[in-house]
Amino acid sequence: MSIKLVTRNFDRPDSHTLRVYREGGGYETLRKVLATRTPQEVVEEVKRSNLRGRGGAGFPTGMKWSFVPRETGKPVYLCVNADEGEPGTFKDRFILEQDPHMLLEGIGIAAYAIGARYAYLYLRGEFVEAGRRVEDAIAEACEAGLLGSDLPDSKFSLDLYVHYGAGAYICGEETALLESIEGKKGWPRVRPPFPAVKGLFGSPTVINNVETLAKVPHILEKGAAWFSALGTEKSGGTKLFPVSGKVNRPGLYEYPLGTPLRTIIDEGAGGVSAGKKIKGVIPGGASCPVLTADEIDVPMDYDALAKVGSMLGSGAIIVLDEETSMLKTLLNLERFFAHESCGQCTPCREGTRWIVQVLERIAAGKGAPEDPDLLLDIAAHMAGRTLCPLGDAAAGPVRSFVTKFREEFLDPLNSM
Ligand SMILES: Cc1cc2nc3c(=O)[nH]c(=O)nc-3n(C[C@H](O)[C@H](O)[C@H](O)COP(=O)(O)O)c2cc1C
Ligand code: SF4
Repeated sequence: MSIKLVTRNFDRPDSHTLRVYREGGGYETLRKVLATRTPQEVVEEVKRSNLRGRGGAGFPTGMKWSFVPRETGKPVYLCVNADEGEPGTFKDRFILEQDPHMLLEGIGIAAYAIGARYAYLYLRGEFVEAGRRVEDAIAEACEAGLLGSDLPDSKFSLDLYVHYGAGAYICGEETALLESIEGKKGWPRVRPPFPAVKGLFGSPTVINNVETLAKVPHILEKGAAWFSALGTEKSGGTKLFPVSGKVNRPGLYEYPLGTPLRTIIDEGAGGVSAGKKIKGVIPGGASCPVLTADEIDVPMDYDALAKVGSMLGSGAIIVLDEETSMLKTLLNLERFFAHESCGQCTPCREGTRWIVQVLERIAAGKGAPEDPDLLLDIAAHMAGRTLCPLGDAAAGPVRSFVTKFREEFLDPLNSM
């Protein structure tokens, strides 16, 4: 059953304003946390909640916060990842547009927990409306004394800056994002050192996704046990699922983690459109391996999806019906990755281009019988051999599409 936490105000008129957010008790949790809890207690509460990062990798949030070294003499930074460039993903934009104050309250609590005096919100440049709403919300919060110097009932101060991206998907990768904020080319960094130790301007830094941070006020308000119980044993809470493709009601749905994929498609998105059958489903955004129609009873959580060889990723569900060409779909995805590869590592830079060339050749009716194996071979030489996860992200779909729908990569007449 759908549960509304992050989306609870979305249907209310003027949900983006401070007035409406406060009518629902907004910013009370931040006030209570600053007055009654130590930063360490906040970190422990978030650890116990089993909140895992909603940006794609699913790293436990409380643990990430606990990695930040104290007393280094350097400032600590919080960076909010609002780049949202993964095809199929449109969840953070809704939070930014519909309830920016819930995000700001989460940012305030997170910054207090890690000891950050300054935070940056890295916003996808194309999100013009979201940018306007967030900047208005920041101005409202500053005016009301909820951001800036000496926040209510405490000596804690926080300044938040909005930094606009310039349209590169790779700048959503956390170290490329840091480079971009520093005014450099958005190239992922070699790790270690990890950002928690050496991040923005060489200082300890936490990077969190918008949805992750919007969950934080709910955890501190109702408690870790309550939040954790909403999800599965290892993945607490609800998740936003943007559903697109061949469904009757494409849109954004919030469900507890562990809800079967089939329920979200049928109950949330109204089932497959035009009475067609499902051929495959991409369960978590463009970089996640595709599932077949037989696999869609899988619970939507990090571990269950890993068991069936895919990933929860950003939670973006893309439904492909029986008339969809898997060849064209994969070509479309791989053109995206080839275009967005930053070119730093050879397996990703060359591999993504070769994959596109082979797929285009098959689509033009000039494929060779060995092409499916050639595609798998190129993907095998990319996965795990690159600086950042984009190489894996491009290889995963190739492996799953070609293995599960091999016949469509042999005979173009069957797949057009
Ligand atoms: C190519 C690439 C693009 C990414 N884009 C985003 C993005 O747009 N938003 C996001 O939150 N995370 C994105 N990530 C994941 C981030 O690197 C990082 O894991 C995340 O922001 C951490 O936040 P979380 O722990 O709250 O999930 C991307 C990763 C890669 C490799
Ligand atoms: S894997 Fe691709 S996107 Fe990532 S650093 Fe290497 S070339 Fe750039």
